[in-house]
Amino acid sequence: MTRRYLIVGPPGVGKGTQADLIATEFGIPHVSTGAMLREHVARGTELGIKAKSTMDAGNLVPDDLVVAMLAERIAMDDARDGFILDGFPRNLAQANALDDLLAGGLDLVIALSVSDEEVLRRITGRRSCANGHVYHVTDNPPKVAGICDVDGFELFQRSDDTDEVVTNRLAVYRASTAPLLDYYARIVADVDGLGTVEQVRSRVFEVIGS
Ligand code: AP5
Repeated sequence: MTRRYLIVGPPGVGKGTQADLIATEFGIPHVSTGAMLREHVARGTELGIKAKSTMDAGNLVPDDLVVAMLAERIAMDDARDGFILDGFPRNLAQANALDDLLAGGLDLVIALSVSDEEVLRRITGRRSCANGHVYHVTDNPPKVAGICDVDGFELFQRSDDTDEVVTNRLAVYRASTAPLLDYYARIVADVDGLGTVEQVRSRVFEVIGS
């Protein structure tokens, strides 16, 4: 049985948080194109240099760059029996490219939603470490303020987490990514993203189990 899942939803809805829980539960990789791109930016690779200004503005990195990066990742051994995709595909061109890469397609699309107000509240309170561990200042705080529980690194705010950029990311989501919900209509499960991480987790695992 393969577990080829996609988690989709607006910026800050909790995709990465829930994808980590799914990955741990089923022993499949959490494949986040946003995290992969941020790693390229941090390492100063050619891809990172090309992507940085686009990401800082909250726009989509060109499809050819992202598709090549994703294709390489899901061809790795640990993704043979499945993966949880987070942040890819983000438009119809990327969905078509994924169809070409995957015989049999995806098994399930988990569509998370919350209001724009909650998106802003979650994103402005988000703190991350250099290894991608994510916290929220009030809802999911680290044990020691400003320090990652897992690796002791200092926590920081993402450069694309300002009010202005989040507003653009929401607009990009509506224009380019939300139409994927129709594209995948046959395998979409809608999940209310409001509530604690644990409450949302229960809903997510219910749709995976069904
Ligand atoms: P990406 O990293 O994919 O960003 P995003 O989609 O905007 O999503 P976020 O990472 O902001 O949020 P999330 O939904 O994962 O929420 P999280 O779990 O962290 O993309 C960034 C950029 O990279 C894009 O703008 C683009 O430029 C580029 N890019 C990436 N993929 C691309 C692609 N395929 N094509 C082209 N360009 C691409 O949670 C948010 C906060 O809320 C955290 O603080 C968390 O602790 C908290 N939280 C989570 N759940 C709850 C809860 N239930 N209750 C309260 N707080 C919660």
